[in-house]
Amino acid sequence: MIPRPVIKNVKFKIRRYDPDSKGRREPYWQAYDIEIKEGLTVLIALLQIKDRLDGTLTFRSSCRSAICGSCAVMINGFPKLACNTQVLPEYEKKGEMVIEPLANHKVIKDLVVDFDPFWKKMEKVTPYLVPKEGSGGSSRMTREDADIIERVQRCIMCGSCNAACNALEIDSKYLAPAALSKSWRFVGDIRETKKEKRLERLSEDHGIWSCVRCVHCTQYCPKDVSPLKAIERLRAEAMKAGITDNHGAKHVDSMVHSVRRVGRLDEATMTFKTLGFLRSLGMIPFGLKMEMHGKMPRPILFPVIVGIDEVRKIYDDIEAKRKKD
Ligand code: SF4
Ligand code: SF4
Ligand code: FES
Repeated sequence: MIPRPVIKNVKFKIRRYDPDSKGRREPYWQAYDIEIKEGLTVLIALLQIKDRLDGTLTFRSSCRSAICGSCAVMINGFPKLACNTQVLPEYEKKGEMVIEPLANHKVIKDLVVDFDPFWKKMEKVTPYLVPKEGSGGSSRMTREDADIIERVQRCIMCGSCNAACNALEIDSKYLAPAALSKSWRFVGDIRETKKEKRLERLSEDHGIWSCVRCVHCTQYCPKDVSPLKAIERLRAEAMKAGITDNHGAKHVDSMVHSVRRVGRLDEATMTFKTLGFLRSLGMIPFGLKMEMHGKMPRPILFPVIVGIDEVRKIYDDIEAKRKKD
């Protein structure tokens, strides 16, 4: 006997906003009860609410197949594709269905957000290959060459990574994970001729060094693009290319030297090396707070860890291996 599909009555709590409404101009919550059959996606539920209960509910969608990237919304607090998320498993896990527009984006109406800043950032990173003149972009690539950029090519521009990004939340000028993974698509391509120029631009303020490595972009990307991996690769390439006159690269460099010197992070010395003397003075109030809480490192008294020779040997081995490669 074929088992009957599970059907449940589910309450959807949807964050709504209509700046043109004569009455409510502030965002508000609206609840809808709808019968959900096993296997139904959030997008189908939204379409049914619009068809049967409230034609004014506004959201974006197109392919219904996790290809076009247009239906990303916050589902129970996390960015997800509505067409790729089944209602019942989500409802059983969280006990509710709360739908909101993508975070870190300006809301235009209901679940529709303004993607202009997203596209402008894409434009900023020159989202196309700049090949050798006359080559038309064709050149032999090995399987390994193609693999390096394979993941980032899966991006469907849904904006979920940007919605989950902690750095973008505090700095709206930050290029953000979607545009940065797109950058790796070209910096990592062996046919690209403007690699260094791209890396120089990406190393400026609000670029690769603004990422705080929270991993959210990688965690919530529906296509497994792994934007953080792309950002790490861009940082490594920038440092390899000698683009190190910026706070991010200086910070990495001072970390590496600190561990080699004393076997741990010597934060006080690192601050001076990263920010320089004058800008470090601006950190004095913060330093005083640390002192009051007994968290101030003591660079002069800072003891070198036991077994530092073994730590230094790791460095020597890595350097020797690099020279050999
Ligand atoms: S890892 Fe970096 S880019 Fe990714 S979400 Fe966190 S801060 Fe943003
Ligand atoms: S990297 Fe992933 S989450 Fe970000 S826009 Fe592309 S597909 Fe969406
Ligand atoms: S409707 Fe196209 S990705 Fe969801």
